[in-house]
Order: sequence, then C-alpha cells, then structure tokens
Amino acid sequence: MPKDETVLITGANGEIGHGLIEHLHTGRRARIIATDIQPLDSDLKPMCQTFLQGDITDPDLIGQLGQSPFTTIFHLASILSTKGERDPELAHHVNVDGTLHLLQLAAEQSRREGRPVRFIYPSSIAVYGLPDLETKARHGRVVREGEWCSPATMYGVNKLTCEHLGRYYALHYRSLEPATTRIDFRALRFPGLISALTVPTGGTSDYGPEMLHHAAQGKPYACFVRPDSQLPFMVMPDAIKALLLLEAAPRENLHQLVYNVTSYSPTAAEILQMILRSFPSAQLTFAPDERRQAIVDSWPADIDDSAARRDWLWKAEYDFRRSFEEYLTPSVHQRYA
Ligand code: SER
Repeated sequence: MPKDETVLITGANGEIGHGLIEHLHTGRRARIIATDIQPLDSDLKPMCQTFLQGDITDPDLIGQLGQSPFTTIFHLASILSTKGERDPELAHHVNVDGTLHLLQLAAEQSRREGRPVRFIYPSSIAVYGLPDLETKARHGRVVREGEWCSPATMYGVNKLTCEHLGRYYALHYRSLEPATTRIDFRALRFPGLISALTVPTGGTSDYGPEMLHHAAQGKPYACFVRPDSQLPFMVMPDAIKALLLLEAAPRENLHQLVYNVTSYSPTAAEILQMILRSFPSAQLTFAPDERRQAIVDSWPADIDDSAARRDWLWKAEYDFRRSFEEYLTPSVHQRYA
C-alpha cells in the first residue's frame, strides 16, 4: 500500500481489528480511520489518525466517515453467531443494514474519486448449513465455496446476504447508468479464530479460545460442545495475513469474489489435549449446550481453500502444533503472568 492511502476499519476494537491496526500502522505506516461502537483501546489510539465511536447503523456516523476519502475498507464490525441467535433482528440490522450503508459509502467515494474503493469483507464458515450429522458424515469433511450454503443461524444468513450484496455492488450496481465506477469487493470465509491477546464475544467457535484463556488463568472451564466436535480454526496472525494477501492480490488474478481460508481442523478433545501439554493442571471439562452444539454440528468440519491458494497464494503459517507452541502458549503465558 502506498503511503498516501487511507484505510477505514469498522469494528476496530474487536479481535481482528487489534491485529490489523497494529500491522497497518507499524508495518505499512498507513493512515487509519477507525470506528467502533465501543471506545478504542488506549494502545490502538496513537496508531489511528481518526477514531469515531458509534454505531454503523447510524446514518450520522456513516456521513462523518464519508468526509475523509479512503481507498480501502476493512469492514470487521459484526454480531457473531450465538449473540445473533439471541436477537436475530438486531443481528440482521447490524450485520446487513450496517454493511449496506458501508457499501453505499464505498460506491459514493469511488464515484467521487473516479476509482474503485477496495472493500474487504470477512465472511465465515457460518454461511454453511449442513442439515444433520448423517448428511455431514456422508458428504465428507471438506466443503467447497458453492456447497451447502443454507445457513442455520441468523449470522450465517447475514454473512451470505452480505456476500451477495458485495457481489451486486461490485458487478451490477446502477448498471442502468453509464460509466459508473464500481467497488472492488473481496470476501473471505474465516474458520474459528484464536487470538492470544483477546477473547471473542458472542461466537460459537469461542469454545476454542475460551478453553485456552481459562487454562492460562488457572480458571475452570466447561466446554459447551461434545469432545468429538470438529471445526476448522486459524490463529489471528494467519487471519491478518489472509486479509492482507487478499487485499493486495491483483484484481485479474481473482477468479471469484468469495474465498474459503483455513488452517487446521482439530476436535474439541484435541484442543483440550494440546492445551494440557502447556497447562497440565488446567481444569477443563465438557458440558455440551444443546443449542450451541446444533450450530457447530451444522458447520463443516473442514473447508476447501484451494481457490485462495491458487488465486492469491494463500497458505497458513501456523499448523495446529506450531499455533500453540510458537504463538498461543508463549503469548498467553506472558499476558497472564
Ligand atoms: N467465529 C464465528 C462465530 O462463532 C464464526 O465465524 O460466530
């Protein structure tokens, strides 16, 4: 990214925002405009040129964000899957209406500036919905982008809707008008993410990070899914790497607008065993919650990310063992020391 480019980050104070802001500031010296519904953590403040606290469904906030020209948006703000099931209408409002506001903002900017604004959108494995465990076993572990897109959560429905909205704004928006500049929309579907620095809130893959962070603090934890539950996961440095690689990819190399990315697929029991290697006295047990289990059961055990590997040379740095030995365990040790 050239130095004169400006990046807008929504949901800046969230898990991905933390890693991304640090990278864009320290590694690339980008100008950052950040927004979040919560106040921005004090360590991030000096890295952002502007921070606006507010709700992305608020037109006034969108108007204010539109005052500074930006070249790329990382739209990270979202209500995750478990929280979304507790208030599906709120999830739709924030996840879909909020995204629509930002797509419109990006389209206006690109029209004004005469060049496409890059819109990087983190979607999720939640867009997949396998109807039952029998079908899931019959299908096999790995799911490709076009398969089983019948989500069982409002969050999954929202993410899939926004992928389609992004595609519409990228390819068809105002197609009746001559020579409209369209946005450059790029989405990736993340697996469950694990960070050493933050703990997610309101997600369903949260049992992975929650097990680790409880163990590191010597607190007991009852995992809310069965030991055999299996989901794809990735550590935060790889998630940031994926966002930046997709952002930097030459447009002509991208043969689709939405890409799976993943790293490894442990069962909950395997995560527990891995944590016990570093924290042998951790008090981790299983107490499955029927509803959250049903959400995990509807998600694929693994996803096929070969399109991302082919089109923008995606490759995770951290496999399961390396994630824990070189990133998670040392960093959480330090964090809770
Ligand atoms: N981590 C998300 C959730 O659990 C899935 O993308 O809701």
